[in-house]
Amino acid sequence: MNSLSSWESCLKAQGADQQQLLEQAGAERDRVFGNQVFVRAVIEISNFCRQNCTYCGMRRDHKELTRYRMTVDQLLEIILKNCPPMVTDINLQAGEDPVAVREIVIPLVREIRRQTSLGVSVCLGTLSEREYTALHEAGAEFYIIKIETGNREHFRQLQAPGSLETRMAAIQFLAAQGWFVSSGFIAGLPGQTLEHVTETLELLQSLPLDGVSVSPFIPGEGTPLANATKSDGQWALNTLAAMRIKSPERIIPAVSAFNLTSPGGYVAALRAGANLTTINLTPDLQRDNYLLYTRERIIMNETRVTKAMEEAACQPSTKGLIQTLNERRQSLAAVE
Ligand code: 5AD
Repeated sequence: MNSLSSWESCLKAQGADQQQLLEQAGAERDRVFGNQVFVRAVIEISNFCRQNCTYCGMRRDHKELTRYRMTVDQLLEIILKNCPPMVTDINLQAGEDPVAVREIVIPLVREIRRQTSLGVSVCLGTLSEREYTALHEAGAEFYIIKIETGNREHFRQLQAPGSLETRMAAIQFLAAQGWFVSSGFIAGLPGQTLEHVTETLELLQSLPLDGVSVSPFIPGEGTPLANATKSDGQWALNTLAAMRIKSPERIIPAVSAFNLTSPGGYVAALRAGANLTTINLTPDLQRDNYLLYTRERIIMNETRVTKAMEEAACQPSTKGLIQTLNERRQSLAAVE
């Protein structure tokens, strides 16, 4: 296995070497988690964003985009009525919109925790320490906060949120406060070199993370990078496999952008060691304007997620993501 021991050789693997890498990663997931995959639902509650990332369709300078915020009642009704039984966790996602955090997310999280047994994840950008604390007290336990690229200068060029330092500080703060934290990056961003990617992977490796992700770059409609080249899915797939091998215990999602790189991309991500899928519950009307990259994205519903898991010989986990992480934490504490 020496030939696949460095990040670089994993990323560049082709042919038989690539096959071996992907299989080894899949076997590693099975060893740690069985063939069980967590099923989370996402709702994209607001597309207002104060950031201006050059790769993202929700950037504040994208003036043609119709902005929306959903209401607590609307959201609660969707969660209570439309959540498929296989879903154990919910992820509340938005552009970086502190108003939505205060007025919608915090009260909603309280109600979800009061009325359901769902674990609550949030992906809401860089907020104040006070806002993180309020979210945690309301009952959210898992924070998704991506670094997008781990090279400081590249981060600045992309106008990614704040600075790499502030994002890293946020990750450290959240982890110290007792959140489960997941981060990740976009592979194939314009201006990204092999060195940037290995630097990013090393950085992710060193941070106190329970989850890690890679998304292939898809040129975003209405962004300065609209005409850039779409990322080669193989690059992201090899990265995912390498992440699984180097951090076997971490939660690694099959992100929806894998659907856009090649027809079998999403299933391939599950075969290569991903252990989290996401069912999108955002109503069509809002989803059209939740513009991460393109309106043409393939929406993962219950049927598509079930089929992908079957094709990848995986099963939905009956135990929730956050429940599993809490149990793991308790058993580690008992050992110490
Ligand atoms: N290509 C791929 N992923 C993207 N994201 C945003 N824009 C793009 C893009 N053009 C990802 C970012 C963000 C997540 C919600 O979507 O990683 O954190």
